[in-house]
Amino acid sequence: MNMIVTGASRGVGKALVREFAKDPANHIVAIARDKPALIELQKECLNDFSRAHVYPVGYDLTHGAFPARLLPEIESAVRKVDILVNNAGLLIQKPFPDFTPDDLDRILNVNFKSVVLLIQALLPLMDPGAHIVNIGSMGGVQGSVKFNGLSLYSSSKGALAILTECLAEELRSSGVSVNMLALGAVDTEMLQKAFPGYKAPVSPAGMASFIANFAKTGHHFMNGRIIPLSLSTP
Ligand SMILES: NC(=O)c1ccc[n+]([C@@H]2O[C@H](COP(=O)([O-])OP(=O)(O)OC[C@H]3O[C@@H](n4cnc5c(N)ncnc54)[C@H](OP(=O)(O)O)[C@@H]3O)[C@@H](O)[C@H]2O)c1
Repeated sequence: MNMIVTGASRGVGKALVREFAKDPANHIVAIARDKPALIELQKECLNDFSRAHVYPVGYDLTHGAFPARLLPEIESAVRKVDILVNNAGLLIQKPFPDFTPDDLDRILNVNFKSVVLLIQALLPLMDPGAHIVNIGSMGGVQGSVKFNGLSLYSSSKGALAILTECLAEELRSSGVSVNMLALGAVDTEMLQKAFPGYKAPVSPAGMASFIANFAKTGHHFMNGRIIPLSLSTP
């Protein structure tokens, strides 16, 4: 299978690339800005699973221009895409009155706009049976517990949730499925930034194992769903 994972330089995305890389039949394009970290990840995967196929692509998703600048790099690695995991995310935590227009642009660019543009760019490479998995957040689920300082982050994930539902309908005839996993706390840099000192009950590797399995099989059972993945009550 051919997979694209965004936000692969650390945290959940990195663990997901490692999980997919265990199967030598998988070809994984790993995207993030930190290309040295991606090259290191490629080396780690080759070291741990000798026949891993990981292709590091250093790219800032807020740059857009995907058809002209990102697609050629992806297509030099894979001709088709079976699984796209839109995992890259940006969290900026501030009291609501302190958010600047630039904060708003940056959050929406990473968490929403780049996902829209990347899906548009990659759809021509997707055959019936392909699965798009958007990585959301419990904070972006309607009715869930909300936290101070996360208004823009959580609402950007809320927008992604509705995009997931809309696209599942719109792409139905093409046979491409779209679902969202709304993550609860996972022990990563992002979580430590938002909740310093909090010990998450889930590791990146544990979450990655669930996401990998869901990405491979979840669309045989559901489409357009927002799945809350949290041990606490929403
Ligand atoms: N950890 C949690 O508790 C938690 C909870 C709910 C939801 N989530 C969601 O889960 C996903 C993964 O989170 P995480 O905790 O693993 O976060 P993380 O440790 O902060 O990693 C974020 C990833 O996104 C990439 N990224 C950020 N901006 C980018 C850009 N402009 N272009 C390309 N890549 C970019 C980063 O790579 P570079 O810096 O190298 O570009 C990094 O690989 C995110 O969507 C997050 O919102 C996480």
